[in-house]
Amino acid sequence: MGFPKNFLWGGALASNQCEGAYDEDGKGLSVPDLVLGGDVNTPRTICSYILEDRFYPSHQAVDFYHRYKEDIQLFAQMGFKALRLSINWGRIFPKGDDDKPNEKGLAFYDKVFDECLKYNIEPIVTLCHYEMPWNLVKKYQGFYSRQTIDFYVKYVTTCFERYKDKVKYWLTFNEINAGTMGEPLASLYGLGYMSQEDLQRTKPCTFDELKDNPEHRYIALHNEFVASALAVIKGHEINLNFMIGNMSSHLTWYPHTCNPKDILACQEKDTMFNDFCADVQVRGEYPEYALAYFRKNNIDYSFITEEDKKILKEGIIDMYTFSYYISNCVSVDPKVEKIGGNLVGGAKNPYLKASEWGWQIDPDGLGFTLNKLSSRYPNLPLMVVENGFGAVDKVEEDGSIHDDYRIDYFRSHIQAMKEACDDGVNLIGYTSWGPIDIVSAGTGQLYKRYGFIYVDRHDDGTGDFSRSKKDSFYWYKKCIESNGEII
Ligand code: BG6
Repeated sequence: MGFPKNFLWGGALASNQCEGAYDEDGKGLSVPDLVLGGDVNTPRTICSYILEDRFYPSHQAVDFYHRYKEDIQLFAQMGFKALRLSINWGRIFPKGDDDKPNEKGLAFYDKVFDECLKYNIEPIVTLCHYEMPWNLVKKYQGFYSRQTIDFYVKYVTTCFERYKDKVKYWLTFNEINAGTMGEPLASLYGLGYMSQEDLQRTKPCTFDELKDNPEHRYIALHNEFVASALAVIKGHEINLNFMIGNMSSHLTWYPHTCNPKDILACQEKDTMFNDFCADVQVRGEYPEYALAYFRKNNIDYSFITEEDKKILKEGIIDMYTFSYYISNCVSVDPKVEKIGGNLVGGAKNPYLKASEWGWQIDPDGLGFTLNKLSSRYPNLPLMVVENGFGAVDKVEEDGSIHDDYRIDYFRSHIQAMKEACDDGVNLIGYTSWGPIDIVSAGTGQLYKRYGFIYVDRHDDGTGDFSRSKKDSFYWYKKCIESNGEII
């Protein structure tokens, strides 16, 4: 069997991580534009105004804003059928609460989509990939305020109307479940939420210093559910052919041991991190286990009103899309060895190897997840819209880059997807993360590279932005040409 005909092979990017041009053509500041890069010695820092003489990775990123033609042509050379990218909200509504959209911002994405369509590359558009206008954070605490729902709906309606003949696939929010985590960086990126106290700070501060407020966070997440459902309703009014999806981060969790306490802790982690948001968006209602979780944690959920329940029911999504990078273990033993990971870490799995950033490599976890999703949501089309390997690449003297480790990662994950297709999973597409090197969302580094295409840009701000092909470029081209048969 293998992959279906017309499978959407491609790559995925986020505006704030690739475009740069952070203040060009009328764009307002978006959240990542205020976040400084970081590494193990200097944790990520935020300041409510731009600090002179500091390096902000998103300000120029890899300059996709000016080089999108060259980049899309390279993607076309690999045979891409799809390109997932995000519209930067701040290019369209610079302050978020503006009366009118910014025509120059709209025109930019017209050009990008036209360039994709020229090569028969289907755009898959994320409407918000951590790019809330900073003004909405400052004035409204992001989605904590219900008013932000209206600003979002106005923004997405503008996009749907403008691009209705160019874009069919839309994702309402990137990794909406980042809002369940309680990590200040994830809350700010995912929900645009910062506490009043933290918003009053006039000096730079690290994310560890920021406060989490679980009740506020779940209110903000609820408002995002409502905003997403309203977007689905609006989108279908504008074009019935739109396929509008959720986007969830999916991390496979295993109990660290067969201690029943580990099994129960793992079940709670799996449901509250992986299933909760998607259940709301696929089934149109809060699952009972989430309400029980709220009760156990003293979270007053009277924010779920009768009117909102109706909206959630009407605005269910057309496809389920998710990112998958790693798996982690859950243990109730506080002394267990820990490991990092995408968005959230866990207990170390003795059977798995990890990347230099401590992300455990687990293709079987992807196969397991695809089968799980297929039985949880029968018949719903699934798409893996992020999957990839962040590594340090070495440029040889002749300019070649031998990234076998990346090829190994892709080979094993694509094999797992193929087996899932054989199992009858309704998988319709795969967009690998960072087909060209971009800024890391978690660390702000350029040193952590994901691309099939290398970009000469570095964490000290040097580099001429030139592009070159890594070995994985030729490998992925063959994979796509053979519809995943030659890997
Ligand atoms: C996902 C995000 O969680 O992980 C991306 O949607 C991000 O924006 C990706 O880039 C990889 O994480 P990182 O921290 O290596 O960039």
